[in-house]
Amino acid sequence: MMSQGLVIMSYVVACILFILSLSGLSNQETARRGNYYGMIGMAIAIIATVFSASVNAYITLVIALTIGGFIGSKAALKVEMTQMPELVALMHSLVGMAAVLVGYANFIDHSSSLVGIEQTIHQVEIYVGIFIGAVTFSGSVIAFGKLCGKVSGKPVLLPARHLLNLSLLILTIWLGNIFLSATETGGGTFALILMTLIAIAFGIHMVMAIGGADMPVVVSMLNSYSGWAAAATGFMLSNDLLIVTGALVGSSGAILSYIMCRAMNRHFLSVIAGGFGSVGGGKAATVEGEVSAIEIDETVQLLTDAKNIMIIPGYGMAVAQAQHTVNEITKLLRSKGKAVRFGIHPVAGRMPGHMNVLLAEAKIPYDIVFEMDEINQDFPKVDVTIVIGANDIVNPSALDDPNSPIAGMPVLECWNSVTTIVLKRSMATGYAGVGNPLFVHEKTRMLFGDANDSLQAVLKALNA
Ligand code: TAP
Repeated sequence: MMSQGLVIMSYVVACILFILSLSGLSNQETARRGNYYGMIGMAIAIIATVFSASVNAYITLVIALTIGGFIGSKAALKVEMTQMPELVALMHSLVGMAAVLVGYANFIDHSSSLVGIEQTIHQVEIYVGIFIGAVTFSGSVIAFGKLCGKVSGKPVLLPARHLLNLSLLILTIWLGNIFLSATETGGGTFALILMTLIAIAFGIHMVMAIGGADMPVVVSMLNSYSGWAAAATGFMLSNDLLIVTGALVGSSGAILSYIMCRAMNRHFLSVIAGGFGSVGGGKAATVEGEVSAIEIDETVQLLTDAKNIMIIPGYGMAVAQAQHTVNEITKLLRSKGKAVRFGIHPVAGRMPGHMNVLLAEAKIPYDIVFEMDEINQDFPKVDVTIVIGANDIVNPSALDDPNSPIAGMPVLECWNSVTTIVLKRSMATGYAGVGNPLFVHEKTRMLFGDANDSLQAVLKALNA
């Protein structure tokens, strides 16, 4: 068993490692190191907690760790990179559920020696912890359903939904008052259960009201909520490490949500209120025009003639796992003296940094990878833009159709380059389910087929 002093020391070291981990993750070059810091910090935290004086039911603990570890490692090994956001949403729901269960366990446990104001504060921690946990739990389950297509991506907008949300919040505060008065005489169960049901309904309603195109913000927002749920659990268990870690996750998730809102031109507060993905209200314009297809040999000719090339990867590159072929082509084109750059949209793919992760995995040099804001004005100077399995992030209707579900979202303006070649398998829509006028644009050529197959053929022809 560890002494209390050693446990506190270990917690401080773990906190420092978590902070170093977050700062490492903010940059591609240091992201790997950041992950290691996080893993070491978590290992120290678990060991210190397991051997602290507050843990004694070792058999139960070993059984729980074995079952949890088995399920977690199985899921992590099985899950495809493209399913990662779903897994993350599911994990957030577990954090929320844990906060609810810890809250109820604390409520039922009468061994506490707290009295007076300390006891009241503890009851407030339980009430708030269960509320945040339940909202995180149900919201994350719906987000999981939306991300994997089990729940419709269309926003469900109930009449007077903001009024409904406000009423639920007022009811929650009123029930909180009843709960606190009742706990003084050993009651409060009914108010607590009713509040939990309201919080579950609130979480479902909040995420159901958000349109599919705006899910990236919801995922990072639920990440933030899960952090606050963990912090609330820390207060209930009087565990300083959990409080600090939860606050780190909560605030970094909130900052990420804010950055993503800015990237998608949405208002942060209206996201929190829910139902913000319903811009316009009219019917989105249908896409009409002639599609101009292109074959491999003509694609190779355009690339051979080009001096300035831009590559825009999207979700389809992840599906096709084309990043390694992209790297081979990039190396070859650069060896022929061509300028090749990558343009990354903040919400390309299905999770924050999705494209950066794939490009880093394929060892594409960081110095040719640019954020949207850094290169959007350069497209007129680009000879050929290759769009690899991207759709919504290059959709011009985001800028010129106020009724589009993605109206107002800044996009990569590749149509300003001399020629744009779009690699995709069909004319199908992307995540937001809207038609894309880029595909019928006079300067666009469509290279149909699986992105990796097409790029393999291009690489072969370039090498010939
Ligand atoms: P999408 O708009 O989803 O378009 C992806 C395109 O890839 C599809 O049109 C699909 O067309 C094509 N594709 C799929 N498999 C392919 C393959 N094997 N080979 C070639 N093409 C393939 O992707 P995007 O442009 O990256 O935009 C991301 C969207 O996801 C945005 O709407 C964003 O809001 C949303 N979203 C983002 C996140 C984060 S945090 N990044 C989270 C959730 C949702 P075909 O079927 O015709 O091939």
